[in-house]
Amino acid sequence: MSADLLELRGVHKSFSRGFRKRVDALQGIDLRVGAGEAQIITIAGESGSGKSTLGMLALGFLTPDVGEVRFRGRDVGQLRGRSLREFRRSVQAIFQNPFSAFNPFYPVDHVLRLTLRNFAPGQDRAGEEAGISDALGALHLNPDVILGKHPHQLSGGQLQRVMLARAFLLRPELIIADEPVSMIDASLRAVVLANMLELRERHGISQLYITHDLSTARQISDSILILYRGRVVEAGSMDQVLDSPQHPYTQLLIQAIPQADPTKRWLAPLDRQHGEAADADGGCPFYQRCPQRMERCLAAVPPLYATPADTRAACFLHETGPAGPPSSTTAHPFTGTQAQVEDDAGAPGNQAPGATDHGRPADRGPA
Ligand SMILES: Nc1ncnc2c1ncn2[C@@H]1O[C@H](COP(=O)(O)OP(=O)(O)OP(=O)(O)O)[C@@H](O)[C@H]1O
Ligand code: SF4
Ligand SMILES: [Mg+2]
Repeated sequence: MSADLLELRGVHKSFSRGFRKRVDALQGIDLRVGAGEAQIITIAGESGSGKSTLGMLALGFLTPDVGEVRFRGRDVGQLRGRSLREFRRSVQAIFQNPFSAFNPFYPVDHVLRLTLRNFAPGQDRAGEEAGISDALGALHLNPDVILGKHPHQLSGGQLQRVMLARAFLLRPELIIADEPVSMIDASLRAVVLANMLELRERHGISQLYITHDLSTARQISDSILILYRGRVVEAGSMDQVLDSPQHPYTQLLIQAIPQADPTKRWLAPLDRQHGEAADADGGCPFYQRCPQRMERCLAAVPPLYATPADTRAACFLHETGPAGPPSSTTAHPFTGTQAQVEDDAGAPGNQAPGATDHGRPADRGPA
């Protein structure tokens, strides 16, 4: 069986914040992007939940404190020389602000040419022109309109599509897109999202779509992983999670989506005032904000349980439900076996998957 395209295993990442203080940005994260059919996986959650940290780890720009990030079965932290170069070509990034990706003193062609020269050196000028035109064409951009323009002469949407074309130039296997449409006019957002979908459908490029916007996520994603304070609280196929959310946090997130129907009330955004002290006692991190909290929830951090909706949710409301991975085999963005879920549920103190006695995930080592 071929290795997954990308796999995060028991990943923990913390950052120092001031003297002797650390913030746990990610805790015990398992995620896999299969090597078969291309898929788009959304990583969602509120600000500070660890989305970008996850993206930076997947890109190899950060290394986990504990756990592993593997690309095609190989530990990204161990890649050197040609294999590191191949990883850098295969996994491309798109960031939130397309304006910052371009040098304002050069036409946008510059970044496209530099990319080609770095990763596919030795082409003559005509070869470069053909490659660039081809990549722009794949994004439905007219080279006559785009080439020769400086960044300020193009819209945010056009620049973001040029960034997608830059990524496409290298025929990557995976694109990590961190809030790629959040700074773009609503009218152009749909075009960029359509481009992303097409990169998956026509060109077989998988994507991690990092966003706090569940509406756009629904338009393009196959599956979703929801983070809360650095932990996965719910994961599963996009439709199942959004149509039948099982974790109270996911339910509140969905209620907070603006309603297109004017007769429906726009529910207030999630109250972020509560919960600053949560987690300190070792209970459910969402306890302070949870409308369904119980005494039980103070005892331990809930592991991921299989839910009746064929998703997994880190919530004690589901601990009596069927344990095990979702029955569907397509596009589930997590690892885990039946035994693992049962072990997690029965572990002393009901720690999060992979957690040690110190509350930090252990490196599970090769499967
Ligand atoms: N380089 C860093 N140094 C210190 N703390 C960091 C660093 N990067 C991230 N953090 C902290 O880690 C946590 C997760 O940050 P991250 O940027 O991953 O969140 P996010 O979900 O992407 O948020 P946003 O939606 O605002 O982009 C936050 O508490 C953040 O302050
Ligand atoms: S474990 Fe308890 S506090 Fe946490 S989300 Fe579930 S019901 Fe709410
Ligand atoms: Mg971020």
